[in-house]
Amino acid sequence: MEPVVLSLGGSILARDEVDTAYLRKLAKILIGMSSKYKFYIVTGGGKIARYYIRAGRELGADESFLDEMGIEVTRLNARMLITALGDHANHAPPKNYDEAVHAGRAHSIVVMGGVSPGITTDAVSALLAERVKAKRLVNATSVDGAYTADPKKDPGATRIPKMTHKELLELVSRSPSGAGPSNVFDPVGARVLERSRISLAIVDGLDLPNLRSALEGKEFKGTLVS
Ligand code: UTP
Repeated sequence: MEPVVLSLGGSILARDEVDTAYLRKLAKILIGMSSKYKFYIVTGGGKIARYYIRAGRELGADESFLDEMGIEVTRLNARMLITALGDHANHAPPKNYDEAVHAGRAHSIVVMGGVSPGITTDAVSALLAERVKAKRLVNATSVDGAYTADPKKDPGATRIPKMTHKELLELVSRSPSGAGPSNVFDPVGARVLERSRISLAIVDGLDLPNLRSALEGKEFKGTLVS
């Protein structure tokens, strides 16, 4: 079965609350496709992770301790998606790549969260894609692709439908560091994708038919990095 990796942004899973209706619909689609694809899904931390990181920073925690808090939240979100997937997925989120590979031998869908401080789940998904020899990674996020500038701040920003790995690296190297939200894709993840020539589809995760097309490697609305 063809391995496909999905990086599912925390902002998609839980905007203000956990979006159970969305999780049900997404689970149905993934289960339906799992006879053809082996899915490895990495869930992000979203607002809850940001909330903990902000509060922990105020209380004086160091950055890597804050990262550990973020990781816990990504794993909590992984458990939520696992719940929606039932017997089709692994029971508990793997804590590293070896465990994820192992889980993939027994389950058609593997769901995990973060792994180690200093990165985000985008990088985890890129490293996992390398490990399971996936040819494509789909980043389901709250924006419909990579833009020339932040579309929330710059009304003149335009979506970039296609770019090379090098162009992605240039774009993300301008992002800030430290625990908490990053840019369109984690720079560590972008470098991993470049070195292993893994394509990246950046899509709006709430648009499920479009997400499905991207997972299948078909035409989609968003940004294709290849
Ligand atoms: P996310 O992957 O959700 O990162 O992990 P993000 O960039 O902040 O969120 P989005 O994609 O913009 O919504 C949440 C936080 O958890 C820590 C980082 O601090 C990250 O910001 N984390 C996560 C790690 O340190 N290591 C990991 O492997 C994963």
